[in-house]
Amino acid sequence: MAGLRADGTGGDLLVRNIGRLTTWDRPVATDAALLAHDGRVVWTGADRDVPAEADGVPELDAQGAAVLPGFVDCHTHLVWAGSRRDDLRARIGGTEGYTPGGIASTVAATRAATTEDLRARAQARCDRAASTGTTTIEVKSGYGLTVDDELRVLDVAASLQGPAVTTTYLGAHVVPDGRDRRDYVAEVVDTVPRAAERGASWCDVFCDDGAFTVDEARLILTTARSAGLGLRMHAEQLAHTGAAALAAELGCASADHLDHVTAADAAALAAAGVVAVLVPVCSLYTRSGRWGHAAALREAGCELAIATDCNPGTAWCESMPYAMQLACLEMGLPVETVLRAATLGGARALRYDDVGHLAPGARADLVVVDGEHEVDLIAHLGTNGIIRTVIGGRPFVA
Ligand code: NIG
Ligand code: FE
Repeated sequence: MAGLRADGTGGDLLVRNIGRLTTWDRPVATDAALLAHDGRVVWTGADRDVPAEADGVPELDAQGAAVLPGFVDCHTHLVWAGSRRDDLRARIGGTEGYTPGGIASTVAATRAATTEDLRARAQARCDRAASTGTTTIEVKSGYGLTVDDELRVLDVAASLQGPAVTTTYLGAHVVPDGRDRRDYVAEVVDTVPRAAERGASWCDVFCDDGAFTVDEARLILTTARSAGLGLRMHAEQLAHTGAAALAAELGCASADHLDHVTAADAAALAAAGVVAVLVPVCSLYTRSGRWGHAAALREAGCELAIATDCNPGTAWCESMPYAMQLACLEMGLPVETVLRAATLGGARALRYDDVGHLAPGARADLVVVDGEHEVDLIAHLGTNGIIRTVIGGRPFVA
């Protein structure tokens, strides 16, 4: 697994008076402190044992609150223009389920937007994510769907400030209106190396009813692997298509959604080490009524991650705590499983080994919870839940 930047730009910080410190590398510590140097954790321990090297380092007083590793949101579509409020209104009226068709209206608005406008909208979303505890974020393209618009969206994604950003080429979101499907798949295949040149680390395919087939996904993803990109898939969201089996066959880093996953799929994902990314806000927003896959994936032994899936059509939500609350209260996952999935699980889905936990050497990415116990993050609904986000040893300010 790779590490995120170690570019000497991180901060020095001493976090004191931590009521409960979760690092995942040691048991939860009470009355704890954490020291960061140059953006990395260098020491954690009892508040009374702060080492002498902390003298003169800027302090953050956690005032007895719980501290967790920062959230790793491993699945977002942050770069878009326009609105899908009418789709939502129709769904609430009960007249329409979710179909991928609505993506076309976001594509039209995104193509029409200036780059500055797209960047400002995406940065505002990124700021909201950071203020709700996200310290690492994956951002997909997928609302451009021409070569130039997809590359433009990837450039916007890569320029976002705040959380550490990793970008994903999702030219295979849907076949754009007016395009022949074979021509479009060929264009996506041809664009893969250009996306890699523009800094994308990943390639994703929406492999589902109304989007791309398993064979199309295999072609695109094997091309991406040859171009040096890591692989991820939107799989088994709307119907069972065999996408999860393909994710296991190709050894994707993650398979995401998985609402229609079977027991055999879950076993195959677990055996192949594919992280199962749960996106409960999407299940809520599409009113799918599907929650049971989470427990099935957990029972099969899959590594779980939780993500927002922030996008205009199925999950307009930047908040990881909100996704985590749904994962507990609707999917029925235990709180500790969800806290891990939102931190370590997300890191594993992105194949990072230095985020999602707080051992010495890890990035000093952490959140101060609005509560004295980490379970308060799940228990207290309707508030931010996070009073401070620290990214690379620096308190986040939008
Ligand atoms: O992750 N499933 C595919 N893509 C998005 C939805 C995109 C949209 O409706 O705009 C998702 O849910
Ligand atoms: Fe998505």
